[in-house]
Amino acid sequence: MKRITLLLFAAALMCGSCQQKAAETTENVDQENVKSTTMEDLMTRRSVRQYTAEMPPTEVIEEICKAGTYAPTGMNRQSPIIIAVTNKEMRDRMSRLNAAVLGADNDPFYGAPVVLVVLADKNVHTYLEDGSLVMGNLMNAAHAKGLGSCWIHRAKEVFESEEGKQILADLGIEGDYVGIGNCILGYTDGDYPEAKPRKENWVYWVK
Ligand SMILES: Cc1cc2nc3c(=O)[nH]c(=O)nc-3n(C[C@H](O)[C@H](O)[C@H](O)COP(=O)(O)O)c2cc1C
Repeated sequence: MKRITLLLFAAALMCGSCQQKAAETTENVDQENVKSTTMEDLMTRRSVRQYTAEMPPTEVIEEICKAGTYAPTGMNRQSPIIIAVTNKEMRDRMSRLNAAVLGADNDPFYGAPVVLVVLADKNVHTYLEDGSLVMGNLMNAAHAKGLGSCWIHRAKEVFESEEGKQILADLGIEGDYVGIGNCILGYTDGDYPEAKPRKENWVYWVK
């Protein structure tokens, strides 16, 4: 009896270690895939300037925002915030404010239905770098999820304006937030843009 129990115990242990090995192997394979798609995504993401009006699913927008929140930040101070705008009225209002900075009356958001506004707390000395990395994560995550995106500038000027400040106040956002950028999102309309050639002398090696 004692021997059978011991054998069963050994078998269970072996089985457990097999499962762990299998899990480890699966994890390794997945990680390799993740690595290769990450590299491809980083190099194939382009700024999209033509969108359909179709609204992407909320879960996808949430995932993209989540990727933004995992960007590195100086001393992990997590100085940025993201305002995810899917409300058409607010999207159009922000578009109008953005165009006004240029003295134009076109739609600087190129018809994209979603705008993720990144702002960062200027009291944190790395706020600009923190916010910019969030913008990068958002655009790359959007590409990985099959959406087009583009950094649209002038968030700084928009949220320095009285109306911009009022928007923040109405949303209950208090603090010294500076606009970093608007990441517009949506489904690409037409051909996906090609990368321009890379300049010479991007990288200086010291070996
Ligand atoms: C800081 C910053 C500001 C930008 N502002 C705008 C903008 O206001 N409007 C626009 O159409 N594209 C804007 N872009 C997108 C760039 O024009 C684009 O990244 C560049 O032409 C390279 O193209 P790619 O993103 O397809 O590689 C901005 C990009 C950055 C990084």
